[in-house]
Amino acid sequence: MGFEYKNGELYVENLKVRDIVKDVKTPAYIYSKKHFQEQFEKFNKAFTREHCVSFAIKANSNLSVIKTFAELGSGADIVSKGELFRALKAGIDPSKIVFSGVAKTDDEIEYAIENGIMMMNLESLDELYAVDRVAKKLNKKGRIAFRVNPDVDPKTHPYISTGLKKNKFGIPYEEAFDAYMQAKNLDNIEIYGIQFHIGSQLLDSTPIYDASVKVAELMRKLQDSGIELKAIDVGGGLGIVYNKKEDNPPSVETYAKQIEDAFKEFPNALLVLEPGRFLVGNGGIMVTKVVYHKTNGKKNFIIVDAGMNDLIRPSLYGAFQEIQPITQKGNKKIVCDIVGPICETGDFLARDYEIEDTENGQYLAVFSSGAYGFTMASNYNSRPKAVEVMVDNDAYKIIRKRESLEDLIKGETL
Ligand SMILES: Cc1ncc(COP(=O)(O)O)c(C=O)c1O
Repeated sequence: MGFEYKNGELYVENLKVRDIVKDVKTPAYIYSKKHFQEQFEKFNKAFTREHCVSFAIKANSNLSVIKTFAELGSGADIVSKGELFRALKAGIDPSKIVFSGVAKTDDEIEYAIENGIMMMNLESLDELYAVDRVAKKLNKKGRIAFRVNPDVDPKTHPYISTGLKKNKFGIPYEEAFDAYMQAKNLDNIEIYGIQFHIGSQLLDSTPIYDASVKVAELMRKLQDSGIELKAIDVGGGLGIVYNKKEDNPPSVETYAKQIEDAFKEFPNALLVLEPGRFLVGNGGIMVTKVVYHKTNGKKNFIIVDAGMNDLIRPSLYGAFQEIQPITQKGNKKIVCDIVGPICETGDFLARDYEIEDTENGQYLAVFSSGAYGFTMASNYNSRPKAVEVMVDNDAYKIIRKRESLEDLIKGETL
C-alpha cells in the first residue's frame, strides 16, 4: 500500500521516488495520500457503534496531512495550543477535537473553550480547578473528561508506555471516582467523558481490553452515583509493522471488537478513538542521500545526509526502521551502521544493519517514517528541516518547503 518496488525501483503510488528526489533533494519526507486514506477507512469501518476517530496529530501535524483526514470526517487529538491552531486551520470540526496533555495552561484552556472543542482530557485536580477558573472568566462551561491511569502494562517500549502507575499520565485509577465527585461540585464544569491511553505501538490487544474493562467498571460506579458520561475515549496506540520479521500487531478488527465488547453496557456513549501511528506510520518514507563510506577496522559506516535531527526515533527509542536503496542494484550485502552528520554518537538511523552495498550519491529510503518523523524533527546543529512532499496518484506536491538558512535564524536578534 503506497510504497512498492517494481523491478528494483521504489515507487510511491504511481511515481518513482527517484524522480521526486531529483527535484526536491534530500533529506525529504514523502507521503502517500492513498495510504492515509485507506488506513483511515479501514480503522473507521472496524468500529460498529457510534464513534469518532480523532487523529492524534502529534504523529504528523502537517496541514495537508491533517486536511486529508478532515476531508474523511476525522476529528483530532491535540496536546497544545499550536496543535489546536493547526487542526482548526486544516478544517477539523471543533466538536470532534479532544485535548490531551498534563500541563494545559490557562491560555490553552481559554483557546480550547472559546473554540468549542468536544472535551479537555484532564490529568490532575489542579488542571480541573484551572478549567473551572478559566471557564468562569469566560462565562462558559468547560467540558471535561478525566484521563484515568488504569495501571495496565501495555508491553511496549518504556518511553511510550503511559498507563502505568509510575508514569506521569492520568489520574490514578483509585482516585478517579473522587475526582469526578469534585468536578460535579464545580459550577463551571460540564462532565462529559472519560479517557485513557495506555501507550503507543501496542502489539498485543490484551492490555487495551484489560484497561477498557477496568474503565467500564469505574463508569458503572459513576453511573450509580448519577454521573452519565457522554463519551468514552480509549486513546490511541494500535501498533504497526516496522519490522516484518518481528512485529505482529493485532488486526484493527480485533482491536475494535475488544474495545466494543468491554463497553457494550454503555451503548449510548460516543466512542472516541485517537489513532496516530496506525493512520500515518507506514504512509511515509524519509529519503536520504549517501554522502560517504568509511570503515574503522571493526565497523562499516554508511554516512548519509539525514541525522537524528531529521528522524530521531532510532536514537531516542532504539527503534527499528527498515532502510533500503530506492534503486536496488543487487550489490553484495554488507553489515553497517547508517549514521548522520550530527555530532553525537547517538546519531544513527540503524546499527549493525544488513543492506546491499551502496555507492556515494545513492539514495536510501527509511520506511515507516510517516509517524513521529517530521513532527519530532529539530534544528539541532543548525540544520534546516527537511522538505515534506505528498503524492496523490501520479502527481506530487510540496506540502512544506525545505527550511532556508534565513528560516533558521527567524526571530533572533544580533
Ligand atoms: C493521549 C494520546 N492519544 C493518542 C496518541 C497516539 O498514539 P499512537 O500514535 O500510538 O496511536 C498518543 C501518543 O502518544 C497520546 O499520548
